Amino acid sequence: MTTNLLKTYQLQSDKLLLPKRQLIITYALSALIAVALLYLLVDPAPAAPASTRPSVAAPWIQEELPPPSSPAPYQGDDESLRSAPPQAQVLAAAAAPCDYTDGEWVPDPRPPLYNGTTCDIIKDGRSCTANGQTDTGYVHWRWQPRRCDLPAFSPAAFLRWLRNRHMAFVGDSLARNQAESLMCLLSSRSPPELVDRDADSRFRRWVFREYNATVSIFWSPLLVRGVEKSERDGVRYNQLFLDAFDERWMSQLFGGGGVDAAVLSAGHWFKIPSIYHRGGGVVGCHGCAPELNYTETSFLGVFRDAVRRTLTEAARRGRDAGAGEEREKLVAFTTFSPSHFEGDWDKGAPCPKKRPYKSGEKELGYTEAEMRKIVVEEVAAAAASGSSAVRFAALDVTTLADLRPDGHPGPYSRKNPFAGGGRVQNDCLHWCMPGPVDTFNQILLQTILRR
Ligand SMILES: *[C@@H]1O[C@H](CO)[C@@H](O)[C@H](O)[C@H]1NC(C)=O
Ligand SMILES: *[C@@H]1O[C@H](CO)[C@@H](O)[C@H](O)[C@H]1NC(C)=O
Ligand SMILES: *[C@@H]1O[C@H](CO)[C@@H](O)[C@H](O)[C@H]1NC(C)=O
Repeated sequence: MTTNLLKTYQLQSDKLLLPKRQLIITYALSALIAVALLYLLVDPAPAAPASTRPSVAAPWIQEELPPPSSPAPYQGDDESLRSAPPQAQVLAAAAAPCDYTDGEWVPDPRPPLYNGTTCDIIKDGRSCTANGQTDTGYVHWRWQPRRCDLPAFSPAAFLRWLRNRHMAFVGDSLARNQAESLMCLLSSRSPPELVDRDADSRFRRWVFREYNATVSIFWSPLLVRGVEKSERDGVRYNQLFLDAFDERWMSQLFGGGGVDAAVLSAGHWFKIPSIYHRGGGVVGCHGCAPELNYTETSFLGVFRDAVRRTLTEAARRGRDAGAGEEREKLVAFTTFSPSHFEGDWDKGAPCPKKRPYKSGEKELGYTEAEMRKIVVEEVAAAAASGSSAVRFAALDVTTLADLRPDGHPGPYSRKNPFAGGGRVQNDCLHWCMPGPVDTFNQILLQTILRR
């Protein structure tokens, strides 16, 4: 169970095949880790203030929602593109930007673009069907915005845009979840080739040769320079250096051979006990032992600071690199993706729901709402800062993700979870693939096309 915890929540880096001795040591640390990792998924924020969102059941669900548009074929992009040329979509989107945050999940009988058989990039922990999940109902929903349509994902359109470009995903395991979803969606059109990776898969890069299109994943759950908490390595707190950047990915942004588009996604790691450094000294702490004598600091404020500094620096580097370049750079930031543990996540709390929530049926939690707002506001501020070389966009998925308690692996983050008879650790944080995370990339594509 401990190794499973480590797998799912701490390392997130595919570095799982530990030698036996390490496994034993790891096991010995289990209690510590369980307590420490609590913070990753338990919400330490104050009780939610009265929500500003109307709590009345939304009558428009039945009355005003347009009837589901006749499903465009998922497979065969060319067919769907003939009926709705991408230029038309672009123009329509430019004319009336669609609010994708307001909507509802509706049944969708179409098969997904990929599955565990057709895409081998799916991380084992996300391949729910292969792990024994027999109820695949969670696959058959699509997001229907209230006032407009969200076009089906078109691998051809995405790859056409990505031709001669490089897109990088940067962040935590949810960034990776989204990147792998995109890789699988694109794989249904063109085979990718893994061209580079580091030893523990914290960095990976693929190329779609047919398009000279590149996708990379960078592990950087704190965005700024930091050391992640790891009991195994004796690091009891995240160490965040708020005035330094994580150059492992920052140095790859823009400029010669750099990326053209970055998709950032982070948040969950900021909730873990952390020590904050600035100017060479400790300036605060979150969730620290009292005897350390550090000032308790709001992780929400630190998250905002990290997001702002990251976006400001991206704008600056984009400006510097952009001189003489005709192509605009894109920085997109995926908003917070909520988990759905019903109880204490470290005590085996499950996420047993089998259907999406209806819109209005569930209030967004306080921390989730704040984490989302920080990204939306900081992205807007970066966009308003007047850098023409870089376009900033928020992929505002928090609400639509919050409505999907049914899309997580639950026990099926590993094969035959009930075979051992022991307590099962549920993963109610990441997303099964295929699953709701594919919608993040549907919105990413529309964000790219909307100019
Ligand atoms: C996966 O997709 C392929 C091609 O669409 C299909 O033939 C196969 O039955 C699917 N497998 C599963 C397990 O759904
Ligand atoms: C291939 O794509 C890269 C970006 O990933 C670009 O720098 C390079 O110029 C492209 N090659 C050609 C031949 O266009
Ligand atoms: C914390 O403060 C107490 C009382 O001032 C002091 O005795 C102790 O040494 C301090 N601990 C650290 C780690 O500085």
